[in-house]
Amino acid sequence: GNAQNTATLQADSGKVTINKHIYGHFAEHLGTCIYGGFYVGENNTKIPNKDGVRLDIVDALKKLKIPNLRWPGGCFADTYHWKDGIGPKAQRPAMVNTWWGGVTEDNSFGTHDFLNMCELLGTEPYISGNVGSGTVQELKDWTQYINLGAGTSPMSKLREQNGREKPWNVAIWGVGNEAWGCGGNMTADYYANIYRQYSTFMAGADKKGLFRVASGASDADYKWTETLMKNIPHQMLEGVAIHHYSVLSWGEGKKTSATEYTDKEYFKTMQQALLMDELVTKHSEVMDKYDPKKKIALVVDEWGGWYNVENGTNPGFLFQQNTMRDAMIAGATLNIFNNHADRVRMANLAQVVNVLQAVILTKEEKMLLTPTYHVMEMYNVHQDATLLPIKVKTNTFEFEGEKLPAVSVSASKDAKGLTHISLTNVDPKNPQEITIDLKGAKYVSVAGRILTAEKLRDHNTFENPNKIQPKAFSGATISGNQLKVKLPAFSVAVLELK
Ligand code: AHR
Repeated sequence: GNAQNTATLQADSGKVTINKHIYGHFAEHLGTCIYGGFYVGENNTKIPNKDGVRLDIVDALKKLKIPNLRWPGGCFADTYHWKDGIGPKAQRPAMVNTWWGGVTEDNSFGTHDFLNMCELLGTEPYISGNVGSGTVQELKDWTQYINLGAGTSPMSKLREQNGREKPWNVAIWGVGNEAWGCGGNMTADYYANIYRQYSTFMAGADKKGLFRVASGASDADYKWTETLMKNIPHQMLEGVAIHHYSVLSWGEGKKTSATEYTDKEYFKTMQQALLMDELVTKHSEVMDKYDPKKKIALVVDEWGGWYNVENGTNPGFLFQQNTMRDAMIAGATLNIFNNHADRVRMANLAQVVNVLQAVILTKEEKMLLTPTYHVMEMYNVHQDATLLPIKVKTNTFEFEGEKLPAVSVSASKDAKGLTHISLTNVDPKNPQEITIDLKGAKYVSVAGRILTAEKLRDHNTFENPNKIQPKAFSGATISGNQLKVKLPAFSVAVLELK
């Protein structure tokens, strides 16, 4: 049988801040993320909107406290020519969205639309520059258009002509995306040079400098990270990306169903998700070799579960449902990021609306919040809080002789002095009880919320959008120096200790 799960909370040795940017999101011109998702058009009278942006989505994302939003891709970014997306909408040239369904992109949602939307959301924009098929000049102009002061340059004048006087001062920029693949099929050596060239000409933001992110490795390609760390001068590099999806096979239609997965597919998906711990650990080790002071951030700017699309939907649109499996991926992954907050200082879930592991799904005027949304909302108490190290000894969850850790935990103390502990039990069958040694820290009360469901494959639908939502949790008790938590099977809990 399984022994007790135990943990020790180092309540007074917090040194590292959990950067709020770990809780970032991603919006690509892909399927119905932008068009038919965020953006329903200025002339839409059925769905309440501001300049064409859906207000119910804005509201929901504000509650989530999304710290940053990456745009316009993904693979799309390296095909995007920003000058086609400014000026009068009727005159904008169209293009083919070659990566995603071959649909026509009419460029009606462009730079102004995105940056104004970020202001509405109260979130920081993260723009992915076109390095794969755009020129150095084009990226230089884009950064000047967005960041240079009013009246100071041809690009800022053009911006003013298009109705925006003040610069947006965007700090976070991606210098290409997946340069090893859809971003140009480059070698690491070649890309490192391209990175140096493009970033040389990018304009700074007025108030802050630029935070430039190099297009990073796929999964366990440590060699890629090593080449970038070695070949790019560190004064021109603020972040190095990696992408990792919880996917079982890349063949079209060969992934798992988003809702009808087998027990084995559940296990394999969680194996992929929990691999994130090893991936960020090993990429960090490579970075430590070249940057022992950890000045450069590891940026996991694409992560999440990737399944077959829903029946009857365009395979190029990557529209998938979201069950308690996704809540497990989110809870466990965010615990991993929190616990690696010294190096992992930004991350972006793929993607925010209607694509892959979305937090929001829409169908015409209807909208629903997925289990993933609720996990991100519960965990947002960790944003910019001080990480409290916690060591966990957990039972395993086994499938056909393979094992995975069942319980993961992370903890932090916020500016008001409140301690939060988030726990995820990915075991689909067994409840887990964990005893946490509080090491003499004096807490008088514990309260919290839990997300679970009757069945693992349960999900919110447009007919029943609130089937899964967080509930008050009474399974945690403090006695003396010990906190005991009873976690149901496949559940995520966040506790507040005072
Ligand atoms: O998120 C979907 C796609 O996955 C992105 O466009 C690309 O960067 C990655 O391959």
